[in-house]
Amino acid sequence: MDELRFAVLGNGLRGALARIAHRPADGLSVVAVCDLSAERLETAREWYGNGIRTYNDFHRLLEDKEIDAVFVLTPDHLHEDQACMALEAGKAVYLEKPMAITVEGADRILASAARSGSVLYVGHNMRHSAYVLEMKRLIDQGEIGEVQAIWCRHFVGNGGDFYFRDWHADRRYSNSLLLQKGSHDIDVIHWLAGGYTIATQAFGGSLVYSKSDKRRQGPPRVPSWTSEDLVAHWPPRSLPDLNPVIDVEDISLVQMQLDNGVLATYDQCHFTPDYWRNFTVIGDEGRLENFGNGEPGTCIRLWDRRCGYHAPGHSQVTPPEEGYPHVSADQNCVSEFIGVLRGERGPTVTSPIAARQAVATACAAVASLRAGGGVVRPLGLNPELAQAFATPSSPA
Ligand SMILES: NC(=O)c1ccc[n+]([C@@H]2O[C@H](COP(=O)([O-])OP(=O)(O)OC[C@H]3O[C@@H](n4cnc5c(N)ncnc54)[C@H](O)[C@@H]3O)[C@@H](O)[C@H]2O)c1
Repeated sequence: MDELRFAVLGNGLRGALARIAHRPADGLSVVAVCDLSAERLETAREWYGNGIRTYNDFHRLLEDKEIDAVFVLTPDHLHEDQACMALEAGKAVYLEKPMAITVEGADRILASAARSGSVLYVGHNMRHSAYVLEMKRLIDQGEIGEVQAIWCRHFVGNGGDFYFRDWHADRRYSNSLLLQKGSHDIDVIHWLAGGYTIATQAFGGSLVYSKSDKRRQGPPRVPSWTSEDLVAHWPPRSLPDLNPVIDVEDISLVQMQLDNGVLATYDQCHFTPDYWRNFTVIGDEGRLENFGNGEPGTCIRLWDRRCGYHAPGHSQVTPPEEGYPHVSADQNCVSEFIGVLRGERGPTVTSPIAARQAVATACAAVASLRAGGGVVRPLGLNPELAQAFATPSSPA
């Protein structure tokens, strides 16, 4: 498949991802866009020209025979039905994370892909983030020995603006932010650890935003991730225009036991002043930690001998610049998807099975958190589904 014709389903904030794929000179074209919003369809015409075919009904988009692949970039609760329908219609699918809002939904998508033979690619772009790739390389090289523990802290400054002012705040559409946002981090934990979670235990709550009466009257406003306006929204309780329904947690603390014995923790908070994620990976011969989340100056520090407090680490690695937020990660993800469609590549860095395991882990942790913190085990993966996606060297 040298020439590829793409469709976009959901041309919102992540519509930008499909723009990366639109390179007509290379035989890659976005030819159709479906969105419920007339404004977003107008944006599509600005991006792709007036010749773009526009739809407001996904069923009609799928009847369009001149589409090879669909970028599914809609809110999370729609992924399951829309991905299954596209796969069964014979279209390749680039599906945004999280794969689905339930583990049953993720399994249904895997089953649709297996049955139809259509390509399923789940866009876990964090795996393509330069600093995550570098951490993975250092671990695989044995720089810290065998991984024993991983602690991830995700400080979601801007969390109020991005996740509490629209559909993300309503568990009917996102399940939880532990799944919505955390699926990235849990997937990276699994990848760096080389295993999948078999038990979770979690606490969390809705400590700040759900208590605010500053609710939105009109349509949601999703500002740009880098908008200067965001700085004015401090402290978090001053945030205007919150979603009328807020029933997801703004803080979650999870403990995980992995199938290879690695122990992990994942902490996510949506009311910190600063935004970044920190992965601390502890092996039996050292530890490493990222400072920065892909911004210029992001580095990885590594400690591999006895010492007291020694902030700089015994060595430092600076990954290649990646643009913010995760520009090269998106480019690499889209390139990997196109490579799969063109049959150019073997095993991919991302993996639909791993994407499913991130959903299963997050769902188990949410069940634990909402039931008071007992141990909850993620639903196991049907071996037939695992087999259907097995490759000679599948990434964990
Ligand atoms: N990988 C990442 O780094 C990353 C970052 C942000 C968001 N995401 C994921 O991307 C997806 C989209 O997020 P977003 O922030 O762009 O959301 P968004 O709300 O900005 O955009 C969603 C778009 O889908 C459209 N839509 C809603 N229902 C539809 C339907 N039935 N048919 C057609 N269009 C419909 C909306 O009108 C909107 O334009 C989510 O799954 C989110 O979790 C991933």
